Amino acid sequence: MAMMRLDKVLGDLGIASRSELRQIIRSGRVLVDGCPVTQPEKRIDGERARIVLDGRELSYKKYHYYMMDKPAGVLSVTEDSRQKTVLDLLPGELRRMGLFPVGRLDKDTSGLLLLTNDGDFAHRVISPKSGVWKLYLAKVEGSLGPEDAKAFKNGLSLGDGTKCLPAELELLPEGCCLVKVMEGKYHQVKRMLASCGAPVRELRRLAIGALELDKNLGPGGFRELEDRELKLLFGQDALEI
Ligand code: URA
Repeated sequence: MAMMRLDKVLGDLGIASRSELRQIIRSGRVLVDGCPVTQPEKRIDGERARIVLDGRELSYKKYHYYMMDKPAGVLSVTEDSRQKTVLDLLPGELRRMGLFPVGRLDKDTSGLLLLTNDGDFAHRVISPKSGVWKLYLAKVEGSLGPEDAKAFKNGLSLGDGTKCLPAELELLPEGCCLVKVMEGKYHQVKRMLASCGAPVRELRRLAIGALELDKNLGPGGFRELEDRELKLLFGQDALEI
């Protein structure tokens, strides 16, 4: 890893703001490989150095990956002057890591949302070229039939001429259905279902690739992803419906 300023290494961990970190370092609370370092600008190899703050050993990670059960009613953007965002649901430590949502869920959509500070990763998850399926549970008005599932499979054409990639639709009882898409166009799932005469009343994302939403999180809950789970996103064994 390239040598980085000590305050930047600690900043990437979200411990405190950069100005607070400079004070913390100057006051001698940080040891690097056993020696106190009081210059914030001191360059270190964050991945190899043993960094201790107030007696607690820290492990450096450049990139962070979280999943959230996004509640309906919250925007999936990093900031908004009037409305609550998914970042507002995180504690300060995570807000300082530079996390952003991987793609967008509509304000009224709930379910699996990934948050990261890794732009390449986000692009890979979102890009239809990566072939990562996104699985949604929708509650609709109106009725859907096998001919709609066939139309999904063949690639729907929406009213405005937008052509969709082949997708999957499975009908469930009580006006519910599962939808699997690879792309994330604006209001994609809602527009696809509306074009079949079934406007969406509720939408929830259940999985991305073979990574399922952790049912224990509950609305607004979040947790860090394990390495094993990151691999599930891009594996061949994306969730079957
Ligand atoms: N498709 C939609 O229409 N809305 C979402 O939030 C996600 C997918």
